[in-house]
Amino acid sequence: ALQPLDGLIASLAVDIPDFPVPGVVFRDLTPVFADGPAFRRMVEGLAGPQTADPRAAAVAHTDEGGPRDPGFDVVVGVEARGFLLAAAVALHAGVGVVPVRKAGKLPRERVSADYALEYGTATVEMHTDSLWRGQRVLLVDDVLATGGTLGAAIALIEELGAVVTAVSVVIELAELGGRQQIAPHAVHALWTT
Ligand code: PRP
Ligand code: ADE
Repeated sequence: ALQPLDGLIASLAVDIPDFPVPGVVFRDLTPVFADGPAFRRMVEGLAGPQTADPRAAAVAHTDEGGPRDPGFDVVVGVEARGFLLAAAVALHAGVGVVPVRKAGKLPRERVSADYALEYGTATVEMHTDSLWRGQRVLLVDDVLATGGTLGAAIALIEELGAVVTAVSVVIELAELGGRQQIAPHAVHALWTT
């Protein structure tokens, strides 16, 4: 039988105490990304049940013969670790990918949001024309800690008039309250710890 995905992630992730600052236990997911079967299952899990068949996006037909709808029109990923996941999820679902970038990287007209995360503060930005009004967004990142980062990403997406229809993360660090910070948006976590 297939190992449950949360157990697989837990067995491959590595905890590093006091990184990048004292008091933080850093959850290093690079070994999970580096494992082929684990990476595929994470990508499928983040994309959600509508994309369960990996060929669905390419063939894309329901019983009625219409195109299969994954429930979102685009995947938004957060720099930098979120990019590794968002592009793969978008390819799997048959949609495009749009970046939320750290300040100073995007060249054209943009919107910005300042935020605090578990170990610092930062600013994220999106191109003003990167989403259309009413566009359905799946927002993807690797770790939900305090929720500061995803909260800022949601604010930008909504400022552009798009709609966050789903939020998916690999790990939710429940004691940091990120889920409450993101509410009323629901968070789909592959592993809650
Ligand atoms: C990490 C992680 C999430 C965020 C979660 O990113 O990838 O984006 O922190 O923390 P929060 O829920 O407290 O906001 P980081 O800013 O370290 O950037 P990186 O992806 O470039 O490593
Ligand atoms: N991002 C914010 N907090 C984190 C943690 N504890 N481990 C890995 N990434 C994080």
